[in-house]
Amino acid sequence: MNLKGQTALVTGGARGIGRELTRQLAGQGARVVMIGRNRETLEEMQTELSGAVTGIPADLSCSQDVDHVIATINELHGTLSVLINNAAIQTEMNFFEPAATDYVPRIQRELALNLEAAICLTTGLLPLLRRQPAATIVNVSSGLAIAPKRSAPVYCATKAGLRSFTRAMRYQCAERAPHIHVMEAVMALVDTDMTRGRGSGKISPLRAAREIVAGIERGRDEVWVAKAALLPLLHRFSPSLVAHILK
Ligand SMILES: NC(=O)c1ccc[n+]([C@@H]2O[C@H](COP(=O)([O-])OP(=O)(O)OC[C@H]3O[C@@H](n4cnc5c(N)ncnc54)[C@H](OP(=O)(O)O)[C@@H]3O)[C@@H](O)[C@H]2O)c1
Repeated sequence: MNLKGQTALVTGGARGIGRELTRQLAGQGARVVMIGRNRETLEEMQTELSGAVTGIPADLSCSQDVDHVIATINELHGTLSVLINNAAIQTEMNFFEPAATDYVPRIQRELALNLEAAICLTTGLLPLLRRQPAATIVNVSSGLAIAPKRSAPVYCATKAGLRSFTRAMRYQCAERAPHIHVMEAVMALVDTDMTRGRGSGKISPLRAAREIVAGIERGRDEVWVAKAALLPLLHRFSPSLVAHILK
């Protein structure tokens, strides 16, 4: 896909990896609509990239806000051709801690944002994407979709679910709308707020976004970002080794 002149929606587009995605898409000549809860960061990006980007404040863990985003895009951005489901949260949970009795709202929020919102935005915006000459849907997953880590069971479940949904959507599009390209970006560890204070060998959000944008331009089904590229081969030879490393 040539991104010049395309209209792209980036969830979580004003912070972390999403911010770099917004910058790079705008740099390639795309118009970008960013979604996020924080109005200030959305406005900062609008100032930085004036004219090329707009923001829609929304909490995507809330189904009314997801519906509002779908309605607004349909009303104001009828040329939408790129959807990037990037926004997510990762919550550490140990179900044997005393605090686990209070986990239910956090579990629901994480499921709603990381998985339900991505599925509902994809299906809700599909009629619009289908009308374009070419379109791309990108779902941002993680190496943890292949095998989970102990400390964030719900996050890992949402990423495994998103990976599965992405594949099934790719099958459906291949059959019914082959001009819609469905891509999964399997992320490595990236230096953002999500990973602050933990992990080593992190790559920059700029590099992560660059690999995703290149994947969109080349029409790739899957982009395994940075070190995550080792996972498919390792997993083919030893799923248990991959499970052990990621645990
Ligand atoms: N960083 C990593 O190492 C890593 C590794 C594997 C996968 N990933 C994936 O990469 C993607 C981006 O992660 P990141 O590291 O850039 O995270 P981040 O720095 O924490 O940014 C998260 C983004 O999501 C938005 N967001 C959070 N909650 C939201 C809500 N309820 N409604 C709407 N927007 C919301 C945030 O904006 P507001 O705060 O303004 O709402 C922010 O723009 C995620 O899908 C993550 O799972 C990241």
